[in-house]
Amino acid sequence: MNVAEQIQKKGYISEPIDSSLDLSAEILKLKKEKNAVILAHYYQEPAIQEIADYVGDSLGLSQEAARVDCDIILFAGVHFMAETAKILNPHRKVILPDLNAGCSLAESCNPDDLRKLKEKHPDHVVITYVNASAEVKALSDIVCTSSNAKKIVDSVPENQPIIFAPDKNLGRYINKITGRNMLLWDGACIVHEAFSIEKLLKVAQEHPDAKIIAHPESEEHILKTADYIGSTAGMIHFVETDESQKYIVATEAGILHEMQKKVPHKVLIPAPSHEDNTCACSECAFMKMNTLQKLYLCLKYEQPEVTVPEDIRLKALKSVNRMLEISARK
Ligand code: 13P
Ligand code: SF4
Repeated sequence: MNVAEQIQKKGYISEPIDSSLDLSAEILKLKKEKNAVILAHYYQEPAIQEIADYVGDSLGLSQEAARVDCDIILFAGVHFMAETAKILNPHRKVILPDLNAGCSLAESCNPDDLRKLKEKHPDHVVITYVNASAEVKALSDIVCTSSNAKKIVDSVPENQPIIFAPDKNLGRYINKITGRNMLLWDGACIVHEAFSIEKLLKVAQEHPDAKIIAHPESEEHILKTADYIGSTAGMIHFVETDESQKYIVATEAGILHEMQKKVPHKVLIPAPSHEDNTCACSECAFMKMNTLQKLYLCLKYEQPEVTVPEDIRLKALKSVNRMLEISARK
């Protein structure tokens, strides 16, 4: 199978790679030759985070994507993130190592169903969490991330009804802290819904000196136990600036790499999931589809490429830019 056929059939490129190759060094070499930039999310495996030009949360990655000056953006994250980078960079090539790197939240929100919901509620403004397809963003008025969701919702006049899609957990949390009554889409993150409250409380009992920090994609009962709730970047900032020495971390385990680098002297305990006693279930299988091998081949062949039809891109750009503009306000 040639490269194009592999991408069509499997969504990524695979070919034998000389095992003596230092893949990180090779990727860095290719990156320089091709004037590429690697943007990586905190949930990527440590080796990928280490070779990235920028590692961040969804907001940081969108802001960085709006700033980059390069020919190629290699996105080490999931599909909706690479699409957001493409929406902001129509003239740059955006490549994603594995097109199967989706997201349960993005999948839960079908554009036709959102269109129908909008038709039923024509007076509602649509705020969409960035974890959604370009087509869904194109149907939305404003995009938000977990970093800026409160600020975005607060920017909408109080008497203006809102549809919030697709994360019901984030939506419920924002309703609670803003006093709004947004109409919530019924989507959820499979990784954050896997945390076990019983096991979490047991770990908290065993470590009474630990603070619980949680991502707002987690379920309400988990959020109720949390001393701090915030985006991945917010959680890292919290452990850096807070005086405690121990934290139970309720989000995808990839964050522990950057977090531990920032606070090498502090103890970080991954929140337990339903399945077993390891932290394996708090790993996002989509995020972990990216490997150094796939990154290397992706940069070598400059494929798979992520594209967005121009009519959809222009509409989605409006809602993404609206978010970036509100987010930048003091
Ligand atoms: P943030 O990095 O914006 O906190 O989002 C977490 C997430 O689940 C991304 O898919
Ligand atoms: Fe989607 Fe959850 Fe994975 Fe983030 S962690 S990409 S929200 S499935």
